[in-house]
Amino acid sequence: MVLKAQCPRQPLIRAATDSRAPLPCATVVKVGVPRERAEGERRVALTPDQVGKLGSAGYAVAVEAGAGETAGFDDDAYRQAGAEVVSDRALVVGADVLLYVQAPSDVERLRAGAVSIGYLMPATQAELVHTLAGRGVTAFSVELVPRISRAQSMDVLSSQASLAGYRAVLMAATRLGKYFPMLMTAAGTIPPARVLVLGAGVAGLQAIATARRLGAVVEAYDVRPAARDEVRSLGATFLELELESQEGEGGYAREQTEDFLRRQRELLTQRVAAADVVITTAAVPGRRAPLLVTAEMVRGMRRGSVIVDLAAETGGNCEVTRPGQIVQVDGVVVDGTTNVPSLIPIHASQLYARNVTNLLLHLTADGQVRIDLEDEITRACCVTHRGEIVSGRARELMGLEAART
Ligand SMILES: NC(=O)c1ccc[n+]([C@@H]2O[C@H](COP(=O)([O-])OP(=O)(O)OC[C@H]3O[C@@H](n4cnc5c(N)ncnc54)[C@H](O)[C@@H]3O)[C@@H](O)[C@H]2O)c1
Repeated sequence: MVLKAQCPRQPLIRAATDSRAPLPCATVVKVGVPRERAEGERRVALTPDQVGKLGSAGYAVAVEAGAGETAGFDDDAYRQAGAEVVSDRALVVGADVLLYVQAPSDVERLRAGAVSIGYLMPATQAELVHTLAGRGVTAFSVELVPRISRAQSMDVLSSQASLAGYRAVLMAATRLGKYFPMLMTAAGTIPPARVLVLGAGVAGLQAIATARRLGAVVEAYDVRPAARDEVRSLGATFLELELESQEGEGGYAREQTEDFLRRQRELLTQRVAAADVVITTAAVPGRRAPLLVTAEMVRGMRRGSVIVDLAAETGGNCEVTRPGQIVQVDGVVVDGTTNVPSLIPIHASQLYARNVTNLLLHLTADGQVRIDLEDEITRACCVTHRGEIVSGRARELMGLEAART
């Protein structure tokens, strides 16, 4: 059903619903999916399989032509799912609700009162957050969705970290000049590769599982004692280091002192030297990644060994990591590739799309977006609303005082 005849404000948008009854103009909210502009970003915020869900909730979906191309979803797939494919980006960006992966790239075109959903990273994008607030955009930061059971289906941190953990192991395996599994051949026995995973959260656990599936012998360490059983349940060895727990709030690690990190590095030196592959994923929310592997420790590794540093974007767990680059130090490869989930764009997009669709549906009542800042999920990830920076966490990350209540 094309709304063109009924509603001049929505000239190119078709309701993504099977219903033949005309929808009243005022109730049809347009969801726009612009093509991602950030360099190297191959994901798309909405995949065709989610279009119908939004249609059933009363939304009309407009996708910028080519938006899903790098993720393997062509324009026809969106059309068949019931979305309108629009060549003019301005029409997409002028929608009521914008679904992005990366932060909005054309803020100046967003309408006052529009809703945008995507990664915002307030700690590093303060200017953008102020601009969104100034333009009256209601902007959601997907990485601020709380890690509570009720919000698990919206948890992009988990869906994307899991992909990154998996891919990190494949990246290491293809760079390592060795087999991962133990092989007994007529020419003799090949010992299994030794993989060390530092940080056993979502990415680390998936890295452990992947390395185990490839047949490697895996050791892992995390500063949260709760990780011990999870590591063991995947068939890996949990390194028992004589260090105090660094469990913080909400199941995360707390920021560690320099003295703690120095002792941790000392205790890890031998294990790093023994590893063929080190995958580092250690993070503390809102802080620089802890430094776990010094340049000296890298030099202590065998030539041909590989480090994949998934913390590259937040400063790196390894001293010689160069974000976005693969470097060699004394024959050791240090891979600082950033935006690793984007290297698996089909599944990364599908999972991301499910997460943001679930978030949008959570915010929806009667086909409209209703902002209820009393709701725990909304309050945590709604960064700007009605000209204000409302999220306490975003304000904290931006170094602003708490909002007046
Ligand atoms: N309840 C939920 O719905 C839910 C959802 C997702 C995740 N979680 C939990 O949140 C926790 C962490 O999630 P994450 O992976 O997003 O965390 P993260 O990305 O913030 O950190 C990755 C890991 O690094 C570890 N780490 C920090 N400093 C370290 C150091 N110096 N040495 C070694 N490891 C260090 C952390 O403990 C964490 O396990 C996990 O317990 C996970 O199960 C809960």
